[in-house]
Parts: sequence; structure tokens; C-alpha cells
Amino acid sequence: MDPLKARVRLGYSRSWVVRKYSLIGLWPSEVHLTRKFFAPGSRLLDIGCGAGRTSIPLAQAGHEIVAVDLATPMVAQTHALAEFAGCRVRGVAADAAILPFPANTFDGVLFSYNGIELVPREAGKRAVLSEVYRTLRPGGHFIFTTHALEAFNRYAWDRLQRVLDQLGRMLTFRSIADEEFGEIIPDPSRNVEVYYMQINSPRKYRRMLRSTGFGLRYFNSRSRIDALKPPGWLADFDGDFKFYVAQKP
Ligand SMILES: C[S@@+](CC[C@H](N)C(=O)[O-])C[C@H]1O[C@@H](n2cnc3c(N)ncnc32)[C@H](O)[C@@H]1O
Repeated sequence: MDPLKARVRLGYSRSWVVRKYSLIGLWPSEVHLTRKFFAPGSRLLDIGCGAGRTSIPLAQAGHEIVAVDLATPMVAQTHALAEFAGCRVRGVAADAAILPFPANTFDGVLFSYNGIELVPREAGKRAVLSEVYRTLRPGGHFIFTTHALEAFNRYAWDRLQRVLDQLGRMLTFRSIADEEFGEIIPDPSRNVEVYYMQINSPRKYRRMLRSTGFGLRYFNSRSRIDALKPPGWLADFDGDFKFYVAQKP
């Protein structure tokens, strides 16, 4: 396994991280979008399911759920919490970039809470998009969220400094061979949750979706959805997470 991915798996296998994610419930924006784009009784794939925060309420709403996570302890917690909640979720420990399911299996796919940003490198994210595309049935929807490189929030200055540093190194011909734009790679010796993350611009995700073959059916920020504001160009820049709803033609 790619060493960066192995570090992601380590972070999300820690018992305190599993406990942190054991808080079940969809966000209001997720309730809105899953009702709108996942028909009742759909067969859904919940990628990066964590401890079952989204899998369990979607199973309770009547969907058939297959929940996948890179971290085995997360899958075990999803099973335990689903049993406690009295619903059925089929959990599978797997990597989103190599999904163990045949083509055209799912009516809908979810990769919630910015999980795609934990997949190392642009090539890794493209592999995930291709796998989601392959396993979705034609007409099926893929809902996911990200941060945004250009978001105005309290992390904007840190992000700008990192990008300027990377640009400076490029312009002075110093190596950036081991780094892509937007990457955050904390010290491996720290006891943290996030050992790798890459924050891109929504423009880049829209490009990657298009080149995979998806059509983008909906894009908005979480706070705009919560405030019942329509999609618009401002959604790229506000400080909140971005929701994408892509459809396989
Ligand atoms: C930020 S957590 C979100 C968990 C859950 N979706 C939630 O909202 O509570 C991201 C999850 O994605 C999982 N993950 C990261 N990379 C993955 C990959 N390549 N394949 C499958 N799951 C992955 C992590 O193990 C972690 O459980």
C-alpha cells in the first residue's frame, strides 16, 4: 500500500478517532440532498463510512447500505452501532480506489465529510472517481464534499502561505517533486487523526468529474444549503464545505 495511504489508515484506526466519529446523524444539508437525489429504497454505497454516521440514518430511511472504509476498526464500529440501532448495514474494509464490487451495482454513492481529500495525490482521487463511476448504474448520483483552496475562513491565511511557499520553490527551481499543491502532510510521529490531506479548488474537482465522464448536477456550499440559498458562483468562496452531486449519464 502507498505509504501515505497507510498513514491515513493508521490515523483513522486509532480508538480515540473511532470514538470521535461515533456520533450518528446526517447534517441538514445531507438530509436535503440525499432525499432529493437518492430515490426511496435505493442500493447505496457509503464510502469512507467512518463509524456509520451517515450509513445508519440512510439504512433507517429504508435504503440498502453497503458501507466501505479503509480503516477496519471504523467498519467494526459501523457494524456495532448499526446493530445497536436495529438496522442492517453491510460493512466492508476496502480502499475507495479499488472497490470490490461489479460494474453498475449501486443506485447512488456517498463519500461524506471531505473523505476524498484524504486520498493521496491527484492520481489517487482520479482513481476513486473512476471506481465510483464504474460501480454506479447509469443515471445514478454521486454525492461528496470537500474544502476549497479559495475559501474565506480562518484557515485561509495558512493555505495561502503554503501555496506561496510551493510557488516560491517552483520559481527558484527547488524541488517540489514530493508534493502536490494543497497537500498537508503532518509529522508521522504525532498522535493525530489526519496524516494526509489535500485541499484543491472546486474548479479542479469539476474538471476531474467532467474528464471521468460525470455530469455535475448540483454544486453548493453547506451553509448556503442550510440557509436555503440557491447554487451560485459565491459558493466556491464561502468558508464552508462544498457539496457536489455528480451523475453518471
Ligand atoms: C473524515 S472521516 C469521515 C467519516 C464519516 N463519513 C463521517 O462523516 O463521520 C473520513 C473517513 O474516510 C476514510 N477513508 C480515507 N481514505 C479512504 C479510502 N481510500 N478508502 C476508503 N475510506 C477511506 C477514513 O478511514 C475515515 O473513516
